[in-house]
Amino acid sequence: MGGAGYIGSHAVYEMVRAGHEVVVMDNLSTGSRDMVHPDARFRAGDIRVHGDLRQVFIAEQRPDAPPFDVVLHFAAKLVVPESMTQPLEYYHNNVEGVRLMLATMVDYNVRNVVFSSTAAVYGNPVGDGTCIEDTPANPINPYGASKLAAENLIRWVSEAHDMNYCIFRYFNVAGADASLEIGLLKDHLTHLIPVALQAGLGLRASMMVLGNDYPTPDGTCVRDYIHVTDLAKAHVLGAEYLLESQTSLLANLGSGTGFSVTQVLAEAEKHIHVPHSYGERRPGDPAKLVASNEVARTVLGWEPTLDLGDMISSDLAFRRKSNAL
Ligand code: UFG
Repeated sequence: MGGAGYIGSHAVYEMVRAGHEVVVMDNLSTGSRDMVHPDARFRAGDIRVHGDLRQVFIAEQRPDAPPFDVVLHFAAKLVVPESMTQPLEYYHNNVEGVRLMLATMVDYNVRNVVFSSTAAVYGNPVGDGTCIEDTPANPINPYGASKLAAENLIRWVSEAHDMNYCIFRYFNVAGADASLEIGLLKDHLTHLIPVALQAGLGLRASMMVLGNDYPTPDGTCVRDYIHVTDLAKAHVLGAEYLLESQTSLLANLGSGTGFSVTQVLAEAEKHIHVPHSYGERRPGDPAKLVASNEVARTVLGWEPTLDLGDMISSDLAFRRKSNAL
């Protein structure tokens, strides 16, 4: 679900590369048909429309087997500041869409789900900003709250209907596939790295550092940046884990290292000059979010292999090559 979007498309590429058969359902609201791997089957549909979901399951159902081994969910709205002004839309898409997906899975006897959740469920974590999976979830924006509600729904449904889940809490995802065939498209850009690179490429006059009075070493927010290809590979491991172990899992996906906005800009400056100024804090931004990624490492054998420089250089190369400016 949502396999034509930024993260979904990268996960589909890795699933196909690992030899899996993939069907993508997407309403193309933020994704693009061009982002779907040519070896994956594409079906247009909206996760908020039960009939759309049923049609995909019916169309893919074979007489001798359940239609799908695993459903992977990427079909979320995910922009923190947008969620602050559109909470109803965020709950409708991110919770009601998941409810309908789970109901359809139960109807068609599909018992494994890999779910994209987010570090935003942690809110402002107590302590030093390092999040482990049992850090109490306390979201401070509607985006994080809607994803936590969906996580909880998945847990209840898994108990009631004998379903296994792999919930991944993503930290700050960036970069593009090494093929440069897919990446983060130019519309809907709000995230730090692509915004900074757009400013560097002269497509914005400047970019703004949103707050430099946070309780962090240089006053700017600290985040854990993870390359989209590393993240996508974790989904292959997660899906295979569900099929092999028949047990559920909750795991952070982050590099385990925090970078401030200032540090990210310094890294970007190694590739391109980024004109920037300083402005007010953005509502809903926690000061620091960094992952403990021990669970993903030990249970799945997952290991991030690409660093912040790789994220910046691949995003820049994708923007230049695809004119996703
Ligand atoms: N920032 C700026 N200027 C900008 C854009 C962002 O200074 O133009 C700052 C933000 O204030 C924040 C940091 O850069 O401190 C990162 O912001 P992003 O918008 O890139 O990402 P968020 O941390 O807000 O959110 C992202 C995902 C969420 C996920 C979260 C987890 O969008 O889905 O990371 O850390 F939950």
